[in-house]
Amino acid sequence: MQAAAELYIEAFGRKFKAAVADRDKLVAIIAKSFVTEYAFGAFEGENLLGIAGFQDAKKGFTSNIDFAVLKEELGFFGAIKAAAIFSLFDRAPAQHELVMDGIAVSKQARGKGIGTALLHAVQNYTRENGFKTLRLDVIDNNPKAKQLYLRTGFVASHHDDFSYLEWLVGFSGATTMHWRP
Ligand SMILES: CC(C)(COP(=O)(O)OP(=O)(O)OC[C@H]1O[C@@H](n2cnc3c(N)ncnc32)[C@H](O)[C@@H]1OP(=O)(O)O)[C@@H](O)C(=O)NCCC(=O)NCCS
Repeated sequence: MQAAAELYIEAFGRKFKAAVADRDKLVAIIAKSFVTEYAFGAFEGENLLGIAGFQDAKKGFTSNIDFAVLKEELGFFGAIKAAAIFSLFDRAPAQHELVMDGIAVSKQARGKGIGTALLHAVQNYTRENGFKTLRLDVIDNNPKAKQLYLRTGFVASHHDDFSYLEWLVGFSGATTMHWRP
């Protein structure tokens, strides 16, 4: 779980850092909260090289990051601040919809098809479990990820402008994309 948390933070550090500045506390919160049934992992032997989380209307890979877990690590006021920032990223799935809850490949293993394979695994899961759509959001300053999603059949549906939050989260907007089985 520690390895998955480290990988997740390496990839999404900026977004999480705004909520929890202390890296060790952030790793502890995330490692405690992952719901592993809601993710696919790519391994080389024992080594975790990549992870793709998802969520449905009931639960998700990071849905256990709740106020109680935050309070344990950050205290009451730290937890309020972190919960408020995390709520900005809430993407509650509709019925029959699956939503990506983070895909990350370790830096040294990128560009070898692992991200594509993980996305295919989530797409297969979407199809086999009768979901009508797989949704994700990709931030404006991540053209590599957007390229990967276009290549795997996702279609952009709308764009949200967050320029007023750029100072806090480090990006100015995000595109919502859908893939349908
Ligand atoms: C986005 C991310 C998950 C992609 O993972 P990845 O394993 O590098 O993805 P892939 O290797 O499948 O694809 C990346 C590129 O490598 C190319 N590639 C795939 N297999 C290859 C191979 N065997 N040899 C050479 N190139 C290859 C692909 O064609 C692709 O090219 P593209 O950039 O033109 O689309 C990864 O960069 C990452 O973790 N980024 C940080 C976290 C992040 O941004 N997550 C997405 C948030 S929305």
